Amino acid sequence: MKALILGAAAGGAFPQWNSNAAACNRARSGDPAAPARTQASLAVSADGAHWFLLNASPDLRQQIESNAALQPRHGLRSTPISGVVLTGGDVDAIAGLLTLRERQPFTVYATRKVHDVLASNSIFNVLAADVVKRDVIAVGQPVTLRHADGADSGLTVELFPVPGKVPLYLEQADGSAPPIVQGEDTVGAVIRDGRSTLFYIPGCAAMNESLAARLRGAELVFFDGTLYRDDEMLRAGLGSKTGARMGHMSLSGPQGTLASFADLGVKRRVLVHINNSNPVLLADSPERAEVEAAGWIVGYDGLEIALD
Ligand code: MLT
Ligand code: MN
Repeated sequence: MKALILGAAAGGAFPQWNSNAAACNRARSGDPAAPARTQASLAVSADGAHWFLLNASPDLRQQIESNAALQPRHGLRSTPISGVVLTGGDVDAIAGLLTLRERQPFTVYATRKVHDVLASNSIFNVLAADVVKRDVIAVGQPVTLRHADGADSGLTVELFPVPGKVPLYLEQADGSAPPIVQGEDTVGAVIRDGRSTLFYIPGCAAMNESLAARLRGAELVFFDGTLYRDDEMLRAGLGSKTGARMGHMSLSGPQGTLASFADLGVKRRVLVHINNSNPVLLADSPERAEVEAAGWIVGYDGLEIALD
């Protein structure tokens, strides 16, 4: 199995369109220690010819044009993209589906809850029902990922609940914080090819016993790297929300990601969904050195990992 990071940044990307912060300007100016990153998505394949996307980011068109593996190779209209697995209904996870219009067959795999979000937003009807299949996946049930012609890809996906919240645009208009729940709104995905296993968890509000038990000893985990400090956006004057309020655990702190993974024995761990305020994006920051010393790879666009 191969995994290819299409985008490693959180919603808004790096640089973010309206950010005049120092780090975003370093990325904009081409500073090699602050390489730009597109919004989070991972592509996986068993055979190198058929690919499944984990989330469809708003940057998907650019990601396809940057990765030859995802570009058409046969006939006048075709795609190596056989399907899209969704881990939530946030804008940065689903908006790229709109890029995949043009009557091209593929399958969207998601929980009932996330499919309901698509169904209640009629703009997604550009993915015509007679062409694009929508498969509802029950959490905890491994499902075969199939090519557009129905053939077994050699991969399965299992979605499992992780602590999270409803998408930002579905929050109450009064601004009250939605509860952190473990249900079908935010899920992790585990992809298996019969020999190897990888986890993709771009959004997670907390580590708990059930998640720790799932991840213990895992071969490869791509995990929520949104913020370094829970209050970093407030401190930088970039917004009023903490990571906790946004449904993302942070890297630092006693309940943070570094501490939570310290004893899990995960062999390879890669940060994805990294917000533009997170200093780990900067190759010359002390925070980058710290997370690397703790055994993490700071994910970047184009990083390919082969599992055998
Ligand atoms: C998140 O990960 O918290 C969301 O993607 C935020 C957003 O939609 O802007
Ligand atoms: Mn997001």
